[in-house]
Amino acid sequence: MTTEAEPNDGGTSVIIADGTPLDVDLKTDVPHPARVYDYILGGTENFPADRAAAAEFSRHLPNLPTSMRANRNFMARVAHNLAAEHGIRQFLDIGSGLPTSPNLHEVAQRVAPESRVVYVDRDPIVLLHARPLLTSTPEGSTAYLDADLSRPQEILQSAQLQETLDLSKPVAVSLLAVVQFIPDDAIVKNVISELLAPLAPGSILAISTVTADFAPEEVADGTAAYRASGIPMVSRDLTAVAAFFGGLELLDPGIVLVHRWHPDAESAAIEDSHVYMYGGVARKP
Ligand SMILES: C[S@@+](CC[C@H](N)C(=O)[O-])C[C@H]1O[C@@H](n2cnc3c(N)ncnc32)[C@H](O)[C@@H]1O
Repeated sequence: MTTEAEPNDGGTSVIIADGTPLDVDLKTDVPHPARVYDYILGGTENFPADRAAAAEFSRHLPNLPTSMRANRNFMARVAHNLAAEHGIRQFLDIGSGLPTSPNLHEVAQRVAPESRVVYVDRDPIVLLHARPLLTSTPEGSTAYLDADLSRPQEILQSAQLQETLDLSKPVAVSLLAVVQFIPDDAIVKNVISELLAPLAPGSILAISTVTADFAPEEVADGTAAYRASGIPMVSRDLTAVAAFFGGLELLDPGIVLVHRWHPDAESAAIEDSHVYMYGGVARKP
């Protein structure tokens, strides 16, 4: 879908670039994960309910900004590593979030301009502001799909994916800071298995998700605050996260706190108890 939002006040009536009215309700009176994340990362696509929720979550999770930035930097290091070290040229980034520079395609296309990226999110605010995700190099391609992770076949069969990615070649699927919003492990495993089934050997799965392993009380209180605000959120221990990579070959260094995955100088300086996310990357044999 072509997306370019007219400026809007968060109401229900939105016109996208080609003049098509988009029937969405941004539900600005309740916090949304994409907008809370945007606010904490310093973005502007958020509303008072998101900012109030961010303040409440940060009361329980005092290192939430550090942890979220560490997650965003993990995304960039993973994209760079996959493009530079593993020759990956195709990416399917699900739960992509509002554009936050650098976006995944910018990192990958800096290494390999021919990289092709499909972004997927279900939040209409992301659809409205997807234009920066569509600024591909001429050699590569990017697309945006408005879809829900819990319906993987819709994603796989979408025109955006079919026209952008060649499934006979490896694809890196990234589920970054998104599966914590799906409390049922069995659903997450099923989604992953459906997404990876048609992908070529050498394809990649990258996950980051919330854990309480290094800050148990903060994360227990913080996830409870998310749930109280209407956002389903669960933390998972190492065993539960490892189970999402079943049947795959974990790449070095395995599942670690996101700032410990091939850390740069900035990440290396962060304390473990300040990061609430595990991350891992694995290859389909
Ligand atoms: C915390 S943001 C993470 C953004 C980005 N992946 C990152 O790590 O920087 C989570 C995103 O996942 C999206 N999301 C949550 N549940 C989803 C679902 N079931 N299907 C698709 N997107 C989902 C939210 O709308 C939000 O944009």
